[in-house]
Amino acid sequence: MKYSRLVSTGRALPRQLVTNEELARTHGLDTSDQWIVERTGIRTRYRAAPDENATTLGEQAARQALETGGWAAEDLDLIIMGTTSSELMFPNSAVLLQAKLGIPGVPAFSVEAVCSGFLYALSVADQFIRSGQAARVLVVGAETFSRFVDPRDRSTSILFGDGAGAVLLEAADEPGIMVTRLHADGRYAELLYFPSGPGRNFRSMQNDYLIMQGSRVFKIAVQKLGDVLEETLRAANVTKEQIDWLVPHQANLRIIEALAHRLELPMNRVVVTVDQHANTSSASVPLALDIAIRDGRIQRGDLLMLEAFGGGFTWGAALIRY
Ligand code: COA
Repeated sequence: MKYSRLVSTGRALPRQLVTNEELARTHGLDTSDQWIVERTGIRTRYRAAPDENATTLGEQAARQALETGGWAAEDLDLIIMGTTSSELMFPNSAVLLQAKLGIPGVPAFSVEAVCSGFLYALSVADQFIRSGQAARVLVVGAETFSRFVDPRDRSTSILFGDGAGAVLLEAADEPGIMVTRLHADGRYAELLYFPSGPGRNFRSMQNDYLIMQGSRVFKIAVQKLGDVLEETLRAANVTKEQIDWLVPHQANLRIIEALAHRLELPMNRVVVTVDQHANTSSASVPLALDIAIRDGRIQRGDLLMLEAFGGGFTWGAALIRY
């Protein structure tokens, strides 16, 4: 039996850091640092400049993961990218990243599941490794979600930031990734969506912005994520007490706290980066993972629970022995 082992991680953030005060002042928003911190936990976020996008940020994160893992790009036999902000409509950013890494012929594709994109991509990579179709896989979550929000809308513009995270997976005799669980429910599409695309109002796309019913998203996220955490534990035959670290999707500190409570996990066993990065969509989980591995909190042998929730809705979790 083959499993996927997590070899190394990497991350990248745009150059520009924006505080709550700066965001409110620049766009004349009727909000305050206090409101944003109390309701979301967010203090700062990074915003991509015109020359920064999912491909460039993904490349930086990927190169850091390769260097840390001691791999050359030529060692890879598959690239999967979780992104909903591909630099172009096509080719997708995974293919553009493959070209930047200089490895023609290596299969590359992206998985578009909004904020669950990295969890979906990780799960697909795991299936490729388990089936013997790939042995050394780069999985990237990279987004420039700040470009989807109306900078004058206080209810959405404060929430999102840009960034990328990457992991390398390799085939191993022991897990590694123990269990992944994915879900979607398209009946909720109207609670969080972008109102144009190639199939609808394509030409108006540059004037459109993300639409969200925040408080409904909040409640459903807490419920669905709580359920998938328990489902994942059951599938792996693992108890809550055995989890060393929760590495959650970084959308709102209050959602993260509710899930930690459901797992009966103290907050000092939860990786929180939403204060620094805001919601970076599919980059948020690999960014948080990389930070906690590099600062030494997450150690080899630790049991990690990853989870994410996004528009669609899509959601999922992964239990990993690091
Ligand atoms: N500053 C000040 N007031 C704000 C504000 C801001 N940045 N954003 C919204 N408000 C106001 C609203 O206009 C509303 O005012 P009203 O009562 O006069 O209509 C009031 O705050 C309460 O709005 P509500 O949406 O109920 O607040 P909330 O406590 O639910 O917090 C969110 C709003 C968006 C922070 C919260 O719902 C949330 O985080 N939801 C999840 C969003 C998410 O994670 N999306 C991505 C999923 S991947």
